Amino acid sequence: MSKLLKTEKEETVYIEIEDLKAYYTTEQYGIVKEIKAVENISINIEGNSFLAIVGESGCGKTTLARVLYGAVDSPLSIIEGKICYHFNDKKFELSPTSNSLKKIWWEKLSYIPQGSLSALNPIRRLKDIFSDLALSHGKAYDEQKVKTHLEMVNLPSYVLQTYPFELSGGMRQRCVIALATFLNPNIIIADEPTSALDVVTQRDILQLLNNIQTNFKSTFIFITHDISLVPGLADMMAIMYGGCIVEFGSTESIFVNPLHPYTKFLLSSIPKIGDKTEKKPIPGNPVNLINPPVGCRFSPRCPLGKEICTESRPNLFNIDTQQHQVACWLYQ
Ligand SMILES: Nc1ncnc2c1ncn2[C@@H]1O[C@H](COP(=O)(O)OP(=O)(O)OP(=O)(O)O)[C@@H](O)[C@H]1O
Ligand SMILES: [Mg+2]
Repeated sequence: MSKLLKTEKEETVYIEIEDLKAYYTTEQYGIVKEIKAVENISINIEGNSFLAIVGESGCGKTTLARVLYGAVDSPLSIIEGKICYHFNDKKFELSPTSNSLKKIWWEKLSYIPQGSLSALNPIRRLKDIFSDLALSHGKAYDEQKVKTHLEMVNLPSYVLQTYPFELSGGMRQRCVIALATFLNPNIIIADEPTSALDVVTQRDILQLLNNIQTNFKSTFIFITHDISLVPGLADMMAIMYGGCIVEFGSTESIFVNPLHPYTKFLLSSIPKIGDKTEKKPIPGNPVNLINPPVGCRFSPRCPLGKEICTESRPNLFNIDTQQHQVACWLYQ
């Protein structure tokens, strides 16, 4: 791994997500439907932490990432709640009535979108892409600085002369990471940054993200459907199911003592060498986000469900003195 430049910002960062609800509105055959992709999410994210948001396909991870970044446009809208980014004593907020997050894009908050391998402009050389980014933030283009930054993400400086299509998938992903971190943001949201890569490249990219987080003391929000990637990478985890966060806590406490039945299913799906026990699939079908259950969204598939689970949706609550929260009636 190449040397990482330590240019951390001396800012205290804190993110508050309060009762966040974000829905898509679509129209089919003249009937307007709401897709309830993010439902009543309330968590706090400490600065200088690495949070993994884990859940199956379609559970609303990308929607949550877009909302966290403030990239909310039709057909997606925020119905209720808010997100507050605190940097020292400055506050930037996103709610149904205000969006001040665009002001902090790239310099304080950056986003590596899902499928970002194709996010680079195919008709611009990398040099021009970096230059556009610097100039659009009122900074002069300093090629030496860009080369040093590329070295940090293990890229040779010749990539500046290339077009994105001339690079391999792993190199393009490193370019996207280099762009997202170029203006030294405090918070980086990375949505499935390794899902299109082979396992060796995937490991290198995860190691790079880990090194950036440790060296720059930035806050990472890492989104993945693969729970096995989380240990050794993230210190905190949020388990998402059907638009809701059903468990939140330190990676260690969730792996050692998983509480929510959905988390237990996810963990039991991780293959272990020598384990010949039959892997049981989660019964039933993924939740329909247009017409979700009234109570806990996992209740139709939960083997331990009680009557109350179908009637009322549980909120996250603290389970012990450690930072470990679960939204499940079994523990209330
Ligand atoms: N632009 C859109 N318009 C309407 N519905 C959408 C749109 N984008 C996503 N959805 C719906 O919102 C729900 C959540 O989708 P989202 O992309 O957030 O899931 P995800 O957890 O990121 O899935 P994956 O792991 O496959 O990336 C899904 O039911 C999806 O069909
Ligand atoms: Mg997604």
